[in-house]
Amino acid sequence: MRIAVLHGPNLNALGTREPEVYGRTTLAEIDDALEREGAALGIQVTSEQHQGEGELVSAIHRAAGDGTTGILINPGAYTHYSYAIADALRCIAVPAVEIHLSNIHAREEFRRHSVTAASCVGVVAGFGSDSYTVALRALVTYLSRNRR
Ligand code: DQA
Repeated sequence: MRIAVLHGPNLNALGTREPEVYGRTTLAEIDDALEREGAALGIQVTSEQHQGEGELVSAIHRAAGDGTTGILINPGAYTHYSYAIADALRCIAVPAVEIHLSNIHAREEFRRHSVTAASCVGVVAGFGSDSYTVALRALVTYLSRNRR
């Protein structure tokens, strides 16, 4: 099993970006935790961060052809308006889980709607940096139950 983690815009600033909302864990620490959790589960986890919508779309299409079995994606603010990312996730047969550190449903009105979530098999939001490891475990369970 191979999981690709796709981090969207501004997530490179985790640790110092609005810590009262997103916590003090850095992106590198999140990636380390995912790698450790992956190793414990016997799966390979790779992570990349992109600021641009097109770069994320390209990364999604790449994942479809490189042996990736599942995607974890935090599209950042693109969550709320990127039909391009929503469509890209629908173009591929690789299942994705959407992740948010914050509970987007308890925040400003514009953050309460995700246009990308319906292209994913599930969403984990609101557990800070733990959202990622919770989502990884959920995706691995989903993939084991739905092996093609
Ligand atoms: C976020 C929530 C988004 O609304 C915001 O634009 C982000 C981070 C989260 O992980 O809570 O960049 O996706």
